[in-house]
Amino acid sequence: MSVNLIIAASFFAATLLFIYGLKRMASPVTAPSGIKVAGWGMVLAVAAAFLYAFDVRPEAQSQLGVNIFLALIALGIGVGWAWKSGKTVAMTAMPQMVALYNGMGGGAAAAIAAVELYSGNAQHHGFTVTVLALVGGLIGAVALSGSIVAWAKLDGRLNKTIRFGAQQLINGSLLAIAVLLALYVLSAGYEDIPGFSITLFFLVSLALGVLLTTPIGGADMPVVISLYNAFTGLAVAFEGFVLQNPAMIIAGTVVGSAGTLLTLLMAKAMNRSVKNVIFSNFGVEDDSGEGIEGTMKSVEPSDAAISMYYGSKVIIVPGYGLAVAQAQHKLYEFVKLLQKNGVDVSFAIHPVAGRMPGHMNVLLAEAGVPYDIIHDLEDINEEFAQADAAIVIGANDVVNPAARTNKSSPIYGMPILNVDMAQQAYVVKRGQGKGYSGVENELFYADNTQMVYGDAQKVMVQMIEAVKSLG
Ligand code: TAP
Repeated sequence: MSVNLIIAASFFAATLLFIYGLKRMASPVTAPSGIKVAGWGMVLAVAAAFLYAFDVRPEAQSQLGVNIFLALIALGIGVGWAWKSGKTVAMTAMPQMVALYNGMGGGAAAAIAAVELYSGNAQHHGFTVTVLALVGGLIGAVALSGSIVAWAKLDGRLNKTIRFGAQQLINGSLLAIAVLLALYVLSAGYEDIPGFSITLFFLVSLALGVLLTTPIGGADMPVVISLYNAFTGLAVAFEGFVLQNPAMIIAGTVVGSAGTLLTLLMAKAMNRSVKNVIFSNFGVEDDSGEGIEGTMKSVEPSDAAISMYYGSKVIIVPGYGLAVAQAQHKLYEFVKLLQKNGVDVSFAIHPVAGRMPGHMNVLLAEAGVPYDIIHDLEDINEEFAQADAAIVIGANDVVNPAARTNKSSPIYGMPILNVDMAQQAYVVKRGQGKGYSGVENELFYADNTQMVYGDAQKVMVQMIEAVKSLG
């Protein structure tokens, strides 16, 4: 069997593993094995790529040993770093890790484009391949620098949201310059490679990624990361065409379409367009809280716990604060005590609760909460009206009724969980802090709402003690 046939068969198998793995990721029950299956696909694809070494051009044979050595060093550094960071990352720091890894993918695609363009390989293969290398290079470079800025923002290393006049004009001009440079590289052919223009092309693309991302508010970063994820996928697919590598083409296309769908779903769940996320100043102070009637009333954790213990139906709404407090284990301990007393307990998950897609599901899964009591917004929203109590733990925007009623509110139109319709609502939070959108929450002032002030973890401990003290 020829080496090329083995490579092709391996890539085909890797592709099947990617797709099968992705399918298994659709359900929380099968997701862990799905990730492993796709991971093995990646191992196979990387191993198969090494086989190219046996089929290189004769003039490159002398470099073979050095190249394999360099590739192994790169692999060693990558695997070691990823293994360590994957093992040690905190759940709340997951979005920034995803941003960074995503940026690496974009950077790798841009690096392939650079090698192919500087060496003249792409130009040698003709117009279409050069166009693909350039487009992939541009998108990959934007994804790299944009993801690094997103990472710095999420990690608290860059706290500024840098906005200045004519920003969009400057971004538009940078894009135009990148396109002009690309056209110049294209017109030069492969006899006389314009190295300086290629360098400038990449520098301008990197600058574009930075300037596109700096004005976007930190809390919009999950949408931006997902968008750059789609960019990375596209860039990888384009470079896959350049290298004639089917595994890259298919994996890139899958990532590109998954990232695009996720971006659209997140924007839809916030009732905002992707354009609005990228070009508007969401999360700034607003005055939509003015004119809210009622007062905030507080209750002791023990009293709230005991009243839920004697209820028949309780719905729990987890949010970002639950993740910050790492209170999921204590929460589930409390839930088990309620269930033991015959209370029907369910979890209601808003699609953008927390700071990344699936954040709450992963958090609850980590604590061992069974999947059959965890429900999505559309499946459970009708049930709030029949609940004796709804308890909101570290969530805010996703339960704000202003989204239904207040046309001037920045979150108007966002689907929310109907906590206000439960007979009694309890809200666990530390103080008067607003949610990520910076909007006041009418729910906190409603007649049937009581605030349970405190860190979510501490409150849960007090609730458990109160219920246990009943005997
Ligand atoms: P938020 O609206 O951010 O509210 C979280 C609340 O948790 C805050 O009001 C805060 O109040 C409280 N909190 C913080 N630390 C706490 C602790 N240790 N113990 C108890 N409470 C604590 O969260 P949410 O309701 O989950 O909404 C998510 C927001 O993120 C939405 O606006 C959504 O649009 C946005 N977003 C999400 C995503 C994804 S994919 N998840 C993507 C883009 C945007 P105190 O400071 O008073 O404690």
